[in-house]
Amino acid sequence: MMKISTLNKYLSEFDIPLAIVGVLENPKEDPIIYDEQGKLWKIIQETVELGDFKGKKGDLTVVYSKGQIGPKRILLVGLGKAEKITLESIREVLGNASRKARDLDVKKVGICVDIFNRGDFTVSELSEALVQGIALGSFQDIEYRTKDLEKYKFIEELILFSPDYSIDEMKSGADSGQTISEAVNLCRKLAWGPANFITPTRLAEEAKKLEEHGVKTTIINRKEAEEIGLGSYLAVAKGTEEPPKFIIMDYGSEKQDVETVALIGKAITFDSGGISIKPGQNMEKMKADMTGGAVVIGAMNAVAKLGLDLHVVAIVPATDNMPSGKAYHPGDIIKSYSGQTIEVINTDAEGRMVLADALTYAAKHYQPKAMFDFATLTGAMMIALGEHAIGYFSNHDFVVEKLENASKTSGERIWRMPLWEVYDQQLKSDVADMKHTGGRPAGSITAARFLSKFTMEVPWAHLDIAGAMEQSSDKDYNPKGSKGPGVRLIVDLLRNWKA
Ligand code: BES
Ligand code: MN
Ligand code: ZN
Repeated sequence: MMKISTLNKYLSEFDIPLAIVGVLENPKEDPIIYDEQGKLWKIIQETVELGDFKGKKGDLTVVYSKGQIGPKRILLVGLGKAEKITLESIREVLGNASRKARDLDVKKVGICVDIFNRGDFTVSELSEALVQGIALGSFQDIEYRTKDLEKYKFIEELILFSPDYSIDEMKSGADSGQTISEAVNLCRKLAWGPANFITPTRLAEEAKKLEEHGVKTTIINRKEAEEIGLGSYLAVAKGTEEPPKFIIMDYGSEKQDVETVALIGKAITFDSGGISIKPGQNMEKMKADMTGGAVVIGAMNAVAKLGLDLHVVAIVPATDNMPSGKAYHPGDIIKSYSGQTIEVINTDAEGRMVLADALTYAAKHYQPKAMFDFATLTGAMMIALGEHAIGYFSNHDFVVEKLENASKTSGERIWRMPLWEVYDQQLKSDVADMKHTGGRPAGSITAARFLSKFTMEVPWAHLDIAGAMEQSSDKDYNPKGSKGPGVRLIVDLLRNWKA
């Protein structure tokens, strides 16, 4: 974990191995750089005049200060055109810069906050964005490696400098930036961890760790789940020897006069497809089919550490989906927790089965003001939106408005998909209340329509993160691997709940 601190000092006077400096496109016209008491300009002048650094968004160049100022190296990062700079673009360029700094093997990095204040930003939101860019962009998980460990570098300390900004404001932004980044990185680590390590039991342990932050956890085992009738969830768990865990995390239940929000995360710790088994190619990716659960566990970490003034309940139905002599079959009719019966068509459509019971459980026991579920639910979502956006479905405008606002502040792209009733035709069953799949056309929509039958009229949104779960190659603050999709989005939504 990176140490992060804030200082009311001039970075230029501080002895540090590397300083990160943001520069506009056409650096000669950048008043901040040109001014900087002439010192900074002197150091970078040649690099700029030779045309080696143009300040285009994402440009990165290292220059050496040769003892003229405190920092030994300056990592110039291009900010692009002044009018296009946003908190999101700052996170993006800092994300790229963080990997450059990390790989130079500097343990300590300084950033002058003033130099990045190129818009209508408060000191605290700017500090938060800077920290997020660095902490998210430099994430790497080497837990499962044993060889050449010295090849993997880590930034150990980040210091935010400003000679005159309020230290309290810088610190509050740095703290929330760190808390939220750690939540995203925890999600990424769990999501990308292999199925033989990241089991339902391990997820339950991660949830239990939240008790030190005052979160109450309840873990429902197979036997208790049978007793209370979580039939749809248990149908999926039937085929596996790995003990399933229906995980409940409850934050803020002791608070008076606060609203309740429920989060639900699909946690199929490995999705083989079950009896309707998947082809071997890319099957290893299904270790990440518990990303939704990891999103919710990550988000609960941030909610608890930020001490939000809300009651937040999170439910993570966790199990492997495996073929075996005990596995559920296509054609089975399952009685869900809601009492409705479901005809199983394809055992690979297991995510909606476990979510159905989790949604009903949340609605019935907590009567939340709103529910949000996160799920790597359909391959069709990857086809629709690719990896750059989360597709979501909602039955209520007030939930939509909250999500759209959170998308703006977090920078996480979301896109509303239709939830029209007419798609229910595809879910008609000859033998039960409904089928759980509707064939290939509109596969993401019919999945969402199926879920909507289990929400008991609670305002709700379903976020299908199957496309957005993975970053295919290093990009901005997302290194290759799990993106931790939706963690920053939902944390922003919750911390701005009353706004
Ligand atoms: N976990 C998968 C969806 C998925 C596929 C996520 C690829 C990420 C990448 C889900 O359980 C699944 O198998 N869905 C099926 C549903 C179908 C059988 C109706 C799908 O999308 O093919
Ligand atoms: Mn599946
Ligand atoms: Zn799945």
